[in-house]
Amino acid sequence: MNKLFLAPLALAAGLTAGCGGNGDGAPAGADTTASASKAVPATLPNAAAFNSTVDGKPTALYILKNSGKVQAAITNYGARVVSLLVPDKNGVLTDVALGYDSIGPYVHGPETYFGAIVGRYGNRIAKGKFKLNGKEYTLATNNGPNSLHGGKKGFGAVVWDGKQVNDSTVELTYLSKDGEEGYPGNLKVTVTYTLAGDALQIGYEASTDKATVANLTNHTYFNLNGQGSGTINNHVLQISASRYTPVDSTLIPTGKLDSVAGTPFDFRQPTAIGSRINQDNQQLKYGKGYDHNFVLDKSATAVTISGDQSGIVMKVTTDQPGVQFYGGNFMTGANTLKGGKKDDYRGAFCLETQHYPDSPNQPTFPSTEIKPGQTWKSTTTYEFSDR
Ligand code: GLA
Repeated sequence: MNKLFLAPLALAAGLTAGCGGNGDGAPAGADTTASASKAVPATLPNAAAFNSTVDGKPTALYILKNSGKVQAAITNYGARVVSLLVPDKNGVLTDVALGYDSIGPYVHGPETYFGAIVGRYGNRIAKGKFKLNGKEYTLATNNGPNSLHGGKKGFGAVVWDGKQVNDSTVELTYLSKDGEEGYPGNLKVTVTYTLAGDALQIGYEASTDKATVANLTNHTYFNLNGQGSGTINNHVLQISASRYTPVDSTLIPTGKLDSVAGTPFDFRQPTAIGSRINQDNQQLKYGKGYDHNFVLDKSATAVTISGDQSGIVMKVTTDQPGVQFYGGNFMTGANTLKGGKKDDYRGAFCLETQHYPDSPNQPTFPSTEIKPGQTWKSTTTYEFSDR
């Protein structure tokens, strides 16, 4: 039986008036144009709504708190971030992670990746095939001709074993069996979410008993103005990347590392996401907007992004060589989010720290092979502040 910590959902004194709101800063039907000072603070989801059994295993919600200002809710179904509460420029708690109020839609809803850990291989592998040490492996293709995010049932759609280590840390483990989704080797994966100060830190560890490939990342859909609060195109984004990996029409990298200079992919200076999104650019056409891997320069902060309305700033640091910046181009409003909000078109962005897409087929890209006897480790941190 998983241990479930039900930390009290205490709200800051004086901010309780809106209790029973919708978990993203506004009660259903509220005038979301009202000034932020009148906004209702977001609350964490009801943990009991995540107690279920999926594939014969128990699911739960884990609440992370510390003495800082950020709170998080994580479920062991897909090792997902369900909620991330962050104070806005007026101190009002805002839920910046898209997600659902209960476990059901995570299992049955049309959107597969809200908050999820994706794997065994995050992003695409061309035609669902790769060779490792002379042997060809065949994966399920689930994205046109390619395999995306681990295949038909990736790591975001399985139940992990959860252990709450302390108030601010939860550890999730999953054993991906040899042959699962076509990948070789029993891969043991541990993902540790920790609230460290005002940051959510994600630690990854993986080990295998046969040579394999892996690319683990987190697929949280963020909206720093609050989940379900409209377009992210006015968020201001800075990515420390002088190059990116251009793609073909199926979003497989061509193998080149192109300079971002003079293109809509140059986010080296803070730039509104939407300011160049309609330019006549073949890469933007292939991605239907931004859906590209940026090659990170070696700098302390990989990405800085701020919400134009909330003033919430998120800084991403990582030891990974790339980050997939996805601007919500495939969102259609088909999903009902926490509090009845909709996941409208370009209503969120993802910053998936990762190795480059299709690395197993691209000899010039950094390797994603894990060998038996090795423990692969990685850390990505999403740190919050306000303007
Ligand atoms: C990644 C991919 C996108 C899309 C989203 C999920 O970011 O690169 O093309 O599949 O995941 O919708």
